[in-house]
Amino acid sequence: MSVIRKVVETAARYMPDRAPDPLMHSQGHIGKPYSRVDGPLKVTGGARFTAEFAAEGIAHAALVCSTIAKGRATTIDTAAAQAASGVIGVMTHVNAPRMKPPSLMNVDRPKAFAPSDLPILQDNRVSWNGQPLAVVVADTLEQAEYAASLVRVEYELDPAHVSFDDIKATAAPPSDILGEPAELTIGNPDASLAAADLTVDDLYRTPWYHHNAIEPHATTAAWSDDGTVMVFESTQTVSGNKYSLAEVFALQPEAVQVIALFVGGGFGGKAGLWQHTVLCVAAAKVTRRAVRLSLSRKNVFRAIGGRTIAEQRVALGARADGHLTALIHTGTTATTTHARYAEQCTFPPRHLYASDSIHVGQKVINLDLVPNTWMRAPGESIGTFALESAIDELAHRLKIDPIELRRINEPAKDPTKNIDFSNRNLIEAYRRGAAQFGWSRRSPEPRSQREGRWLIGQGVATAYYPVYRFPATARVRLSADGAAVVEAAANEMGMGTATVQIQHAAERLGLPIDKVSFEYGDSRLPDSPMAGGSSQTVSIAASVQAAIDTLQRELFKLARGHSDSPIASAKYEQTTLRDGGLFRIDQPGSGETYAAILRRAGKESIEAEASSSLPLEAMKYSMASYGAQFCEARVNEESGEVRLSRWLGSFDCGRVVNPKTTASQLRGGIVMGIGMALTEETFFDRRNGRVVNPSLAEYYVPVNLDVPPIEILWTDIPDEHTPIGARGVGELGITGAAAAVANAIFNATGKRVRDLPITLDKLL
Ligand code: MOS
Repeated sequence: MSVIRKVVETAARYMPDRAPDPLMHSQGHIGKPYSRVDGPLKVTGGARFTAEFAAEGIAHAALVCSTIAKGRATTIDTAAAQAASGVIGVMTHVNAPRMKPPSLMNVDRPKAFAPSDLPILQDNRVSWNGQPLAVVVADTLEQAEYAASLVRVEYELDPAHVSFDDIKATAAPPSDILGEPAELTIGNPDASLAAADLTVDDLYRTPWYHHNAIEPHATTAAWSDDGTVMVFESTQTVSGNKYSLAEVFALQPEAVQVIALFVGGGFGGKAGLWQHTVLCVAAAKVTRRAVRLSLSRKNVFRAIGGRTIAEQRVALGARADGHLTALIHTGTTATTTHARYAEQCTFPPRHLYASDSIHVGQKVINLDLVPNTWMRAPGESIGTFALESAIDELAHRLKIDPIELRRINEPAKDPTKNIDFSNRNLIEAYRRGAAQFGWSRRSPEPRSQREGRWLIGQGVATAYYPVYRFPATARVRLSADGAAVVEAAANEMGMGTATVQIQHAAERLGLPIDKVSFEYGDSRLPDSPMAGGSSQTVSIAASVQAAIDTLQRELFKLARGHSDSPIASAKYEQTTLRDGGLFRIDQPGSGETYAAILRRAGKESIEAEASSSLPLEAMKYSMASYGAQFCEARVNEESGEVRLSRWLGSFDCGRVVNPKTTASQLRGGIVMGIGMALTEETFFDRRNGRVVNPSLAEYYVPVNLDVPPIEILWTDIPDEHTPIGARGVGELGITGAAAAVANAIFNATGKRVRDLPITLDKLL
């Protein structure tokens, strides 16, 4: 952990809390199920995605990717491609512009990061099978793809490590994990384990998973004669990409405009700056044409990383009454020499259970594969699979109901940080979920429920995802006609970002919902953090709150001292924004509308821009969203086929800003959890690291018939330490989901599968 972080963290603990947001319990637009403002454009086809922006004389790019895992491309013969019809140019390391490698992924500096710090097309080194080696630009996509097939590459091979098992013995702890210590011990876990009345101690394996957003990654880049560049990009990080691309091409950030109005899914896969984006911008520079590079599904598998393989050990010791005496959770994940991302699989055990002793520890190995990256609740999703499977096993052996076991071990304070929770109602979420799901009707005995050949079982598991809030800036503009526009570079990938910030701003300004709009998805707007880590709602809300507070001061200055203003003699602290104007708090009817204030001041509009405060609350309190996942599974005794028949997620995620978008986010997460549990797995050729199932025909994501009806509940208890009391929900639904499936299957069959995905061969 860095010294600076340590100092800030210590200081934060002694700082007084910020006053809770006055909107914490407001009863206006927040909490209402508004439909997404981007919905009509999407369903009518009016929404334009990155690969759909027209530019004059646009050319199309295709990638040539490495077919070896490690070595050098000694010859890249482009002659035939150059001569092919329609080809404008072929770019390799020989003629690519000189470019600085982007900064590595770094959460302390969210403006500029990349999944890999490799130089891009600057030399002939090959670091993974699928690494782009050449870009062919042609008049049409078909011409580019055909010409790319004509590029001949000769290689010199270096020995490569592409198999986790081959080198897992070389695992070593990383220096830190997202700023947290890689290892941590409280008490004497080994001694406690040895002395426990009952123990479980097992290994859990999760495979490599690949991102498969509906919209494959795409870039459209166009340079202007003045040396500025416009980049339409399918990204979760509009502002971040601006800074990163400026760094790569040695430009001022203002010279780069990144636009992402709509994004067809990201889930972490579009958080970083990947090679294809840089290559598209470079190819546009070299060919002096506007260039579009839209990855094929196959190239998404090759060039875009996903979740790495992991092996985790969970050992639990307990007294006969269920009290945990030892909690040991260690894990090894893979990364690469140029990615260095240790997926935080041991974060959940640091916060979920009170245990007399705790040990967590993580190690990493370096594979020669596509750089691993953030994916669908990275860390917490695989970590909760291991931990929550182990807790279920312990409950079974102790003959204690698994929900009761969690209640017994619910901590009063964060067990490893020894600080208070900002707000935690996990047991309440279990209580509500159990009542609604009918948990009391479940038989704890495995194989005790059946319908013909179908064995039936129910399982539960805890969902857990931390609260991240990143610094953000927003601008709010009020017009004399009483309308407001909120501006931030933010992303809308379908989560409801625009909708919930409109609700938020309308409520804070006291305006009707249809008087507020939100401009986003353009790096010329005020900087936003990436839409990742389930952080966007609170991050942007904090900056919108700051901007509106600033706006209120400006309005007050305009009204103050005007004898005809009802607030002429008021102090600023005595004013509030409501009913479309600035009013006195103590005199309900006393105030004037924004329109009146602006008219008198002779202004068409007024605007304010402000940045949010540092997220010190997250250092003072243990902050997370929680949940209880309830799953019912049916397993065919003869074929091993698994069918999920019921799902209920009961969440504690702070105040729900919009029930419609929140339920949708949580359902989507659960669907991803189902894929993780039952169907998804990337296979690499052990000889050369090539992805052998790079398509949706061979990499199975859940489809409608794989997903049961999903009921969503929430506690809806505001978290006083976040803006508007909300917490993140984007990733929460994924966590605990795979364990709930595995636990339901155990209850159905008596088989404990610790190796995902749970395919039918593992149940026979
Ligand atoms: Mo998320 S995996 O932080 O986009």
